[in-house]
Amino acid sequence: MFKKIRDDIEAVFARDPAARSKIEVLLCYPGLHALLVHRLAHRLWVRGWLLTARWLSQVSRFLTGIEIHPGAVIGERFFIDHGMGVVIGETAEIGDDVTLYQGVTLGGVSGDPGKRHPTLEDGVIVGAGAAVLGPFTVGKAARIGSNAVVLQAVPANTTVVGVPAHAVKRPIPVDWRCFPAYGNEPGTVADPLQSAIERLCKRVDELEDEVTRLRRAPEPSALDDGDDDRRLVANLRR
Ligand SMILES: CC(C)(COP(=O)(O)OP(=O)(O)OC[C@H]1O[C@@H](n2cnc3c(N)ncnc32)[C@H](O)[C@@H]1OP(=O)(O)O)[C@@H](O)C(=O)NCCC(=O)NCCS
Repeated sequence: MFKKIRDDIEAVFARDPAARSKIEVLLCYPGLHALLVHRLAHRLWVRGWLLTARWLSQVSRFLTGIEIHPGAVIGERFFIDHGMGVVIGETAEIGDDVTLYQGVTLGGVSGDPGKRHPTLEDGVIVGAGAAVLGPFTVGKAARIGSNAVVLQAVPANTTVVGVPAHAVKRPIPVDWRCFPAYGNEPGTVADPLQSAIERLCKRVDELEDEVTRLRRAPEPSALDDGDDDRRLVANLRR
């Protein structure tokens, strides 16, 4: 059990660029607290202590803002970042190394008994505010964009966004153990400093071209006195 808790802490530390120490993770991450309580509540649930398990999960919800039904089955190294507003339904199944951000719902769309909530396979990342609704499977290492509403199965290695969610990229085999922070492909989010430098370099190139063009213009003696552009050429030649 202690190994599991250690792995859960390691998972947070590895996936959140804001985490500075493991003790900080242990003390300050509601997603971790909710997961630890869920592990206990789930044990009670499968042993038939249904009311106690529900009560425990509601205490956890009160303290963390994360509601995980004790019947939900959750794999190893599960990470809920920030946490507030996350809801995980009774028949949800979550594989290993899955990451959810705040406001995610793993919910149902029917009141029928039996499986009503989604299954998330290993390495899935679900962005903030997304709702995954129904008893279908989200394949290994799939990524769900923030605020997407997913109403049908998502193939492995696929990124889906929007309402209703649709795929934005062709499935590509990725190593889901290399966690991309926030689900973004490395290098696709613009660095503002780099963009500013690129704009400056472009402007310098344009100005150099302009100076070259002006230097190649006809001799100033052949120009009218009132031509500002050409007077500039004369100055540049001095
Ligand atoms: C969906 C996501 C995983 C895609 O990341 P990516 O693989 O790097 O893909 P890109 O950023 O290149 O986006 C691909 C396309 O999807 C669009 N897109 C990305 N995220 C989107 C979103 N949440 N909703 C709608 N469209 C989105 C982009 O505009 C782009 O469209 P284009 O091809 O027409 O230009 C990522 O954008 C995302 O939403 N991650 C969750 C982040 C999050 O919840 N952060 C909270 C931290 S507290």
